[in-house]
Amino acid sequence: MTTIKQLSNFQDQSVTLKGWVYNSRSGKGLHFIELRDGSGLCQCIVSADEVSDSVFESAGTLKQESSLEITGKVVKDDRSVGGYELHATDLKVIQIAEDYPITPKDHGVEFLMNNRHLWLRSQRQWAAMQIRNTIQFTIHQFFQEEGFIQMDAPVFTGNAAEGTTTLFETDYFEEKAYLTQSGQLYAEAMAMAHGKVYTFGPTFRAEKSKTRRHLTEFWMIEPEMAFYDLDMNMELAEKMLKYIVEKVLEKHEAELKTLERDTTFLKNAVANPFIKISYTDAVEQLKSDKTANMLSQMFDDREKELAAIKKEMEEIKKEHGSAKKWRKAQIDQRIKDIHVRIDQIEEDLRNIPVWKKSAANFEWGNDFGGSDETILTMQYDTPVMVHRYPAEVKAFYMKRDPEDEKLALALDVLAPEGYGEIIGGSQREDSLEALKERIAEHDLPEEAFDWYLDLRKFGSVPHSGYGLGLERTVGWICGLNHVRETIPFPRMLGRLKP
Ligand code: 4AD
Ligand code: MG
Repeated sequence: MTTIKQLSNFQDQSVTLKGWVYNSRSGKGLHFIELRDGSGLCQCIVSADEVSDSVFESAGTLKQESSLEITGKVVKDDRSVGGYELHATDLKVIQIAEDYPITPKDHGVEFLMNNRHLWLRSQRQWAAMQIRNTIQFTIHQFFQEEGFIQMDAPVFTGNAAEGTTTLFETDYFEEKAYLTQSGQLYAEAMAMAHGKVYTFGPTFRAEKSKTRRHLTEFWMIEPEMAFYDLDMNMELAEKMLKYIVEKVLEKHEAELKTLERDTTFLKNAVANPFIKISYTDAVEQLKSDKTANMLSQMFDDREKELAAIKKEMEEIKKEHGSAKKWRKAQIDQRIKDIHVRIDQIEEDLRNIPVWKKSAANFEWGNDFGGSDETILTMQYDTPVMVHRYPAEVKAFYMKRDPEDEKLALALDVLAPEGYGEIIGGSQREDSLEALKERIAEHDLPEEAFDWYLDLRKFGSVPHSGYGLGLERTVGWICGLNHVRETIPFPRMLGRLKP
């Protein structure tokens, strides 16, 4: 058995592929089967002249997603997906599929999400999961090469790490336990044993917000390093992101194309140093005339674009009646695309005035909302590293800036193109007294943190770390507009099945 991905090694030879019918059509004396086998897509041509009558007949019965085994000659064909075709000599049906619910016609997102177990077979979903896998593998590669060891933090925890409002509570033999929000506190303990460690595991947040960036269960990668300050932490985060993006660009040209991903910003992220800006400067920028003007300009541009495509749509609709068949199909596709774009533009036109107002009225001391992050990153063409946030909006464990006690030595990395925060991190509070104060200020029970406080009693050192959200990273790199498509089976508010 060979896979489609390996076909280039078998030009003009006979191979056997096993897979599923992605698409099929029949012409005179010919069946065209677009086969998918998990490694790629391949056009298979079953010709009445080349196979027995019974094989030809059974090829004609194959409905979408039927499973089969097919043998034939590998023929180079540059117009074909993947560059090779299979000219069949034999074919065995494994199963004729029932009527497949996901057809090439457009389905609503709810329908697709309810059929997520099948939707995963579609090309775009397949491409995203292939890239997700590369990102995961690359992250391990990066940290292992940098001398980190992976550690697994517990999933059941006795304390909150990231605020008490998003905890999932469970009953742990009559004791309260929470599903972990972050492995960080445990990573800190392991960093004091191994120097440089990282977690790679599931984390849980009872997020009641229905946004395109929030899951209730997501995967986080949390490096933690002894003797690292905030600057070293930022340097590591940048190096890691560049490494990940570079590897995806190297391995996944075809998949990024399937996803129709414009890779300009990804290439910029590899080639250029990331923007580094303090929270205070970011606030100033948010409130500036420059930002207000940029948003007004954007609003005008969208209005103009909307008028232009509406006009185009009227014209091609008129043309449709008398058009040739191929042109009709072209027009239908264009009309579909225009509808999608109109929805996007109308959403922007609703949003921009709201964003503009919220940016102008932003007050120092608040946390950035999704739209503020979008606006900030719109002005740059690389990821933006925002550092030194007001301590009040950040977690209890963050070290204060010795130069300004109101600030925490925090770091957020915002992805470009409106994808928002993909990394949150900080230098950690390493003084026992200060940490006890913070725990009290945050109304956290000190007993739950006794072991964590021990780390500040026995050889406390400056240390830092961050958390990378895997799904948001996949979303940005793949250009997906919602995290639900970045994980095989997303868990969100109102979504537990499949
Ligand atoms: O900023 P967060 O909450 O930071 C922490 O949990 C720290 N303990 C990390 C550390 O310093 N070790 O989360 C880190 C990242 C975010 O930047 C985001 O990418 C992702 O985790 N994230 C989510 N992704 C999807 N859905 C959610 N509900 C998420 N919440 C956070
Ligand atoms: Mg955060």
